Order: sequence, then structure tokens, then C-alpha cells
Amino acid sequence: MKTLLIILFMTTSFATEEKALQQIKSYGKALKSELKAAMKKSPEHAVEVCNLKAPQIQNKNSNENIKIGRVSTKNRNPNNFPKKWMLETIQAYQQNKIQKPFTVVSLENGKQGLLKPIKTMPLCLNCHGTNIDPKLYSTIKKKYPNDKAVGYKAGQIRGFFWAEY
Ligand code: HEC
Repeated sequence: MKTLLIILFMTTSFATEEKALQQIKSYGKALKSELKAAMKKSPEHAVEVCNLKAPQIQNKNSNENIKIGRVSTKNRNPNNFPKKWMLETIQAYQQNKIQKPFTVVSLENGKQGLLKPIKTMPLCLNCHGTNIDPKLYSTIKKKYPNDKAVGYKAGQIRGFFWAEY
């Protein structure tokens, strides 16, 4: 009976992990397609779209059981600074001590926390790179006066998707 319960527990918690990863995937996909469509018009327009739509898309892909979002220690939106439980894992990724595609940690409240690194791609450098167009950057600064999300190179970790469940 005990073994059965343990197996049952493990199966449900893996199933939830799978669901969290799927929510993160559809969140990432939706963000990228919005971004790409907006960039066709102009990078300034894409900043508007990120500003308005990123939080909306985040809420749409969260539910009562599984909350998801994005964080970075060099964050643009002040709401996207990592929570305490995330910091140790983020540092381990940044120091190359973890290479796994995602990491799950147990939280104090009995829930699970999941972190999945987001790589910087060439497209991202328009707004997160070392050489941002000054006019575009003034648009960004107007919306995000405390912006820290610059100076990245392609291939570096820009931030993390997170889930709590
Ligand atoms: C058109 C400019 C633009 C481009 C291109 C862009 N971003 Fe962003 N990025 C933003 C803005 C604006 C925000 C703040 C969104 C918000 O308010 O939630 C942001 C926020 C983020 C965040 C959340 C953490 C934070 O700093 O607030 C991550 C992670 C991120 N971007 C990754 C990427 C990645 C990866 C790419 C390339 C696929 C990319 N961005 C391309 C403008 C851009």
C-alpha cells in the first residue's frame, strides 16, 4: 500500500512537471511569435508589444495550480527580479555548474519550483545587446527607467522561465 502511494505520488508530481514545462513552452512560443510579428513593423513597436503583451501572455499561461513567468538577475521589468528560492540555482547555471535543460527544487511551502534557462539569440540583441540603437534605447528607458537587461551576447543566458506548482 505504501509503495503504491509513493508511486502514485511520483506519477502525479511528474505529470504536473510535464504540464508546467508545456505551459512554459506555449508561453515562450507565444512571446516569440508576437515579438517577431512586431519587429517586422519596427523595434519601437516591438517594445510596446513586449511591454503590453508579455504580462498578459504570462497570465494566460498560468492557472490556479501552475504559475509561470520569466525572471532575470539583470531584469528590465522590475517585477521580473528572481524570488529568493531561485537565486542559488540561477547562480549555479551562470557559473556553469548546472547544464541541465531545467532544474526542479522543493520549496518551503511544500510546492515545487522549476527553472529553465532562456538563451540569448541574435534577434534578442536588438534590445538586450551591447550595441542598441540609441533612439530605440530611449524608448526602452522611458518605460523601464531602471533597466538592467543590456550588454548580452548571443549564447549567454538572458534569464529563466520559472514555474511554481
Ligand atoms: C523589441 C525589443 C526586445 C527584443 C527584440 C527582445 N526583448 Fe526581451 N524584453 C523586452 C522588454 C520591453 C521586456 C520587458 C517586458 C515586460 O515588461 O514584462 C523584456 C523582457 C525580457 C525578459 C524578462 C526578464 C526582464 O528582463 O524583465 C526576458 C527573459 C527576455 N526579455 C528575453 C528575451 C529574449 C530571449 C529575446 C530574444 C528571443 C528578447 N528578449 C528579445 C524587449 C525586447
